[in-house]
Amino acid sequence: MIEPIYSPAADRYDRGMQYRRSGKSGLLMSALSLGFWHNFGSISNFQNCKEMMHCAFDNGITCFDLANNYGPLYGTAEETFGRLMDVSMHSYRDEMFITTKAGYDMWPGPYGNWGSRKYLMASLDQSLKRMHLEYVDLFYSHRYDPETPLEETLQTLVDIVRQGKALYVGISRWPDEAAKFAYQYLKERDVSCLCYQGKHNMLVRDDNAINLAAEHGAGYVGFSPLEQGLLTNKYLNGIPDGSRMFRKEHLTSDRLTPELLQKIKALNNLAEQRGETLARMALAWVLSNPKVTSVIIGTSSVAQMQDNLQVLKSAPFSEDELLRINEILK
Ligand SMILES: NC(=O)c1ccc[n+]([C@@H]2O[C@H](COP(=O)([O-])OP(=O)(O)OC[C@H]3O[C@@H](n4cnc5c(N)ncnc54)[C@H](OP(=O)(O)O)[C@@H]3O)[C@@H](O)[C@H]2O)c1
Repeated sequence: MIEPIYSPAADRYDRGMQYRRSGKSGLLMSALSLGFWHNFGSISNFQNCKEMMHCAFDNGITCFDLANNYGPLYGTAEETFGRLMDVSMHSYRDEMFITTKAGYDMWPGPYGNWGSRKYLMASLDQSLKRMHLEYVDLFYSHRYDPETPLEETLQTLVDIVRQGKALYVGISRWPDEAAKFAYQYLKERDVSCLCYQGKHNMLVRDDNAINLAAEHGAGYVGFSPLEQGLLTNKYLNGIPDGSRMFRKEHLTSDRLTPELLQKIKALNNLAEQRGETLARMALAWVLSNPKVTSVIIGTSSVAQMQDNLQVLKSAPFSEDELLRINEILK
């Protein structure tokens, strides 16, 4: 059967998505971004990838987060993205905010890792080829490199913007002191850091980085808001087949201690009382901080995405609920 050509929902910007300004920039990000770390590589089903992409875009998600080594295998999430651009998304390129990163191991030898100019420049060129793009909207240094002079990494980000290969730059997982240096260095060269990307969720908080970004006029983009699925009802009664923990992909069963399970159950009870799933409540908690610009979700199915999109209808937390959450998490 020939599949009809994708035509996005005409009301995609009227379905309740919020758009938040990234720091003191002109750029608005959808409150939910879609992440390609897992579930979009060469081992994933392309039809499922396409359905998730279309569901995201149909519901007002405009921000798509990638990195050179997302897959598995490395590079293949960007290849899937390139295929998605070809089959249905190229006409909507200007409605999309596409990000990629380099900083972790990507290819063998001394030039395929960390923060040198040699690595970052080559990696972005490769990413653009895989994604079938002329430029990305935002390029991140994926991690702080203690061995490379910060000036070298940061000047490379500046030059990438000057070359027109990225419109904005950002940093991810940089410690506070290095991040302060980065904000200042970039600002002095008129290529302000658009946002900081870090992990922030109910179990792993990143308040310092969030406040530091805000103080320097940068936005904050949060990753792993569900702690890779722990903050959902998925693991309440064991490890389901096919789940990230079952597949042992960056989430191993030793994380699921009896103490943690007790907390997750208590959070799940509270979510039920609020009339929502734990996933939705965990996302609402991250987004309740107005300094968070966007939160990157990483779904493995359209059903999960539909559930997560419901966060846009979540009620604000009452004082009593916040106290109960703090009590559970302490
Ligand atoms: N800058 C960095 O260093 C960095 C690091 C990590 C991630 N990131 C970015 O952040 C994105 C998100 O990270 P993440 O995938 O760890 O996010 P996450 O939202 O914490 O975890 C996603 C996983 O949670 C499960 N899940 C999602 N929604 C669910 C729902 N409604 N009900 C039940 N289970 C649900 C799924 O697990 P199953 O697969 O088991 O179904 C899904 O794969 C990545 O794709 C990437 O773009 C950046």
